[in-house]
Amino acid sequence: MYSLLRPLLFLLAPETAHHVTLSTLQAAHRVGVLPLLHQCPQHNPCTMMGLTFPNAVGLAAGLDKNGEYIDALAALGFGFIEIGSVTPRAQPGNPQPRMFRLTPAQAIINRMGFNNHGLDALIRNVQHSRFVTSPDAVLGINIGKNIDTPIENAINDYLLGLRAVYAYASYVAINISSPNTRDLRQLQGSRQLHDLLTQLKSEQKKLADQHGKYVPLVLKIAPDLDSEQVTEIASLLLRHQIDGVIATNTTVSRTSLEHLPQHIEAGGLSGAPLREKSTAVIRQLADVLQGAIPIIGVGGIMSGEDAVEKIDAGASLVQLYSGLVYRGTELISECADAIAAVKTTSQSDKRVAG
Ligand code: FNR
Repeated sequence: MYSLLRPLLFLLAPETAHHVTLSTLQAAHRVGVLPLLHQCPQHNPCTMMGLTFPNAVGLAAGLDKNGEYIDALAALGFGFIEIGSVTPRAQPGNPQPRMFRLTPAQAIINRMGFNNHGLDALIRNVQHSRFVTSPDAVLGINIGKNIDTPIENAINDYLLGLRAVYAYASYVAINISSPNTRDLRQLQGSRQLHDLLTQLKSEQKKLADQHGKYVPLVLKIAPDLDSEQVTEIASLLLRHQIDGVIATNTTVSRTSLEHLPQHIEAGGLSGAPLREKSTAVIRQLADVLQGAIPIIGVGGIMSGEDAVEKIDAGASLVQLYSGLVYRGTELISECADAIAAVKTTSQSDKRVAG
């Protein structure tokens, strides 16, 4: 069905198509017809970070920045939903146009710049969602810093975010890897990251006592890191006992896209051309982490096979964004079922070997 709708949606500017799609999903969910239009993946639970995920396929951050569509998105059968990135205060983001399709390459360039309504609005939306009342709901909340917060004070914005969302999140994702907020990626440097993780970990301990529940912290990193930087980050994650890592955000690379006119647009590239780069980061992380910290693999998943590639590289869960734009919601069950099939095969292989 999406293959019929897609040409019409692609006549609209990408950001307009985004709003039209989400509002239509929301309306379909409210009148109860979503199950007729969409097939949900099989239940295939996996447990990590103390959380049970109904299946291994999640929604990546950035699609529902304010948590306005949680219930409709959850009804599509995602194993988990990540909302945000949210900054302490509302901000408009960059001027439009700021999202571009590179259709022949199945890619997107965005320089949204953390356009969002701020922490208070996001929390109100979470409080109003039915999803969070369900016992097996897994809701990640992804936090960032305001554009006008100097990078030297960035930690303060992350602490404000962590305190505000702690009571509502199943896990909190720390986004230090968007290419669209000046200097943000500097926080991936060893000294800055050590300081950030020290303070977040200490705040997490205080909040865990205060709320009587432990909420995992997950770091989201860029694909534009060399192997030395990935190793350094992985070592810091181990040292600070961070609960998980998301690899990766969008890339600033434009390799092999020079023939497409939109490649000159500034911003982060996602979709098919990001796939190998993000898988390579996952593989390097997995090499150092040796299963001690779970990896959530994201970047360029356009098919069930791509999702399995991330799992084979060492990811335990995956997330989707651009693939939904090009393939529609059927990609969710395709990926979940493909991952379930390889997990079943590897379990039965282990039984045979044992
Ligand atoms: C994103 N992404 C993103 N990530 C994040 O941590 N916070 C954010 O606010 C956003 N915003 C955002 C907007 C748009 C328009 C896109 C396309 C992407 C990155 C996203 O979560 C994901 O990491 C990358 O897009 C790579 O995955 P895909 O798109 O190749 O599946």
